[in-house]
Amino acid sequence: MRLDWLSGATLLLSGVCVNVAASRSQKTVEKPVPKPDKDGKYWIHGQGISAAFVPYGASVSNLLIKDQYGIQRDVVTGFDNATYYTLDRQHPHFGGVPGRYANRIKNSSFELDGQSYQITANENPTPEHPAGLDTLHGGPDGWDWRNFTVVAHSNTSITFSIVDPDGKEGFPGEVVSFITYTLGNMTWDFKMVAIPTTKKTPIMLSSHTYWNLDGFANNETQSVLNHTFYLPYSGQRVAVDNILIPTGDIVANKEGSVNDFWSAPKQIGRSFSDPELEGNCGFNCTGYDNCWLVNRDQDGPYDWRLDGFVARLQSAWSGIQLDVYSDQEAFQMYSCNGQNGSMALKKTQGLFDNPKFPRTIPQYGCVVLEVEDWVDGINQPEWQRSSKQIFEPGGDPYVLQASYRFSINSTATPL
Ligand SMILES: *[C@@H]1O[C@H](CO)[C@@H](O)[C@H](O)[C@H]1NC(C)=O
Ligand SMILES: *[C@@H]1O[C@H](CO)[C@@H](O)[C@H](O)[C@H]1NC(C)=O
Ligand SMILES: *[C@@H]1O[C@H](CO)[C@@H](O)[C@H](O)[C@H]1NC(C)=O
Ligand SMILES: *[C@@H]1O[C@H](CO)[C@@H](O)[C@H](O)[C@H]1NC(C)=O
Ligand SMILES: *[C@@H]1O[C@H](CO)[C@@H](O)[C@H](O)[C@H]1NC(C)=O
Ligand SMILES: *[C@@H]1O[C@H](CO)[C@@H](O)[C@H](O)[C@H]1NC(C)=O
Ligand SMILES: *[C@@H]1O[C@H](CO)[C@@H](O)[C@H](O)[C@H]1NC(C)=O
Ligand SMILES: *[C@@H]1O[C@H](CO)[C@@H](O)[C@H](O)[C@H]1NC(C)=O
Ligand SMILES: *[C@@H]1O[C@H](CO)[C@@H](O)[C@H](O)[C@H]1NC(C)=O
Ligand SMILES: *[C@@H]1O[C@H](CO)[C@@H](O)[C@H](O)[C@H]1NC(C)=O
Repeated sequence: MRLDWLSGATLLLSGVCVNVAASRSQKTVEKPVPKPDKDGKYWIHGQGISAAFVPYGASVSNLLIKDQYGIQRDVVTGFDNATYYTLDRQHPHFGGVPGRYANRIKNSSFELDGQSYQITANENPTPEHPAGLDTLHGGPDGWDWRNFTVVAHSNTSITFSIVDPDGKEGFPGEVVSFITYTLGNMTWDFKMVAIPTTKKTPIMLSSHTYWNLDGFANNETQSVLNHTFYLPYSGQRVAVDNILIPTGDIVANKEGSVNDFWSAPKQIGRSFSDPELEGNCGFNCTGYDNCWLVNRDQDGPYDWRLDGFVARLQSAWSGIQLDVYSDQEAFQMYSCNGQNGSMALKKTQGLFDNPKFPRTIPQYGCVVLEVEDWVDGINQPEWQRSSKQIFEPGGDPYVLQASYRFSINSTATPL
């Protein structure tokens, strides 16, 4: 099974279109079928780190690391079992891979080679547009609403695949994708590859993981507003309207302004009393749900694995520091403005028998970090993102790579 997949993937990566089903049927060495635990979760392990995944959305469901006192913390949101991912009606995209086009698409439409395409809408419904004014994360049945197939699973790594049919949610052509997660020495790496097999199509993926570096066990606050955040290459961001659709303008994050996380690390909650933050994440919304650009070419050629993180998140309480390395040129951060205490914590998180904190996720209780490309680049030709967002059979595949590196930093005082 695993050898099959590897040979298939090699062919796919070299740009040759192969039939995945055909490669699966090749006769090779018998491999044990990957097995989940009793909750339907697939576990992998590294040094000082363990993680669980579920086929639904190829989602990370648990990520365990020790804090500065040696106590294990589960630092991502999720559900206790694989079955519940499909049953949950709120669908906050916990830990999944949004696809085939992550984030928002203006007016649920785009043009490709003079032809217009209409995608299924699923956000911001109005009386005239009951389904919504735009498409979020690939539509109402986007990739993170579907079960992926586990195609390889070892003690340190797991690979999921999905075949997204021609016309699904309105997108042109079939897309075959492989998502590989690997744990190392306090590291979580992922590689996402997607190949259009029949038609030219937009593709943009991400990992939509929600973090609370205290595992909701902080007995003074359940919020992430005291987490320190740093985007060293992000002096600019994508301007949006009041439903978070890009206007096409790129704007400056002036030093000291609410969206300035580049000039120095700063607490996520630092600007919450600043009136400028009102409406920053859309109509009547105070907080963040913004797309920062990652500008690093001006410093000369770089190796994304070695030359500095694009984002850093730290908690002084747990001492856990997360450095995000990635080859992507934008970074979305969402401060869980929409959470309201209606999602339960997992049994691996939170405080027990503490009347001050119910076992639910409060508003601002988490932060989503998304490595991706420029939001809605398919509707902004002047940004010239085609080579990063439009793919065709026989051409280069879509590839996203990231390395999430954890450490203990006891000097990470809130700023
Ligand atoms: C499955 O997970 C959900 C949400 O985390 C939880 O409410 C439910 O009790 C769990 N079911 C079982 C059988 O463990
Ligand atoms: C996904 O798989 C789970 C079992 O692991 C199953 O309960 C659920 O119905 C499946 N969901 C979909 C959308 O196929
Ligand atoms: C919005 O999408 C509709 C349906 O595809 C299309 O008719 C209309 O021209 C689009 N509007 C804009 C402003 O792009
Ligand atoms: C898998 O990883 C765990 C945790 O590091 C370790 O205890 C176990 O021995 C490993 N199993 C194999 C088969 O390598
Ligand atoms: C893991 O990394 C730490 C420091 O980065 C190093 O001291 C340690 O030897 C590494 N462990 C292994 C098993 O490679
Ligand atoms: C939080 O926990 C620490 C360590 O257990 C304890 O010293 C402190 O009093 C607790 N604070 C509150 C507000 O409960
Ligand atoms: C959070 O940060 C604020 C501002 O720096 C500080 O006043 C407060 O004590 C911090 N709270 C916790 C729980 O660390
Ligand atoms: C703005 O948000 C607040 C708090 O969520 C809510 O109470 C209020 O009704 C909202 N106002 C409007 C005009 O939607
Ligand atoms: C909390 O948010 C969910 C999802 O948006 C919504 O269904 C629910 O009604 C909200 N609950 C409250 C108490 O506002
Ligand atoms: C620890 O955090 C502080 C404050 O953000 C930072 O200056 C320092 O470089 C960090 N140390 C390491 C080793 O990452």
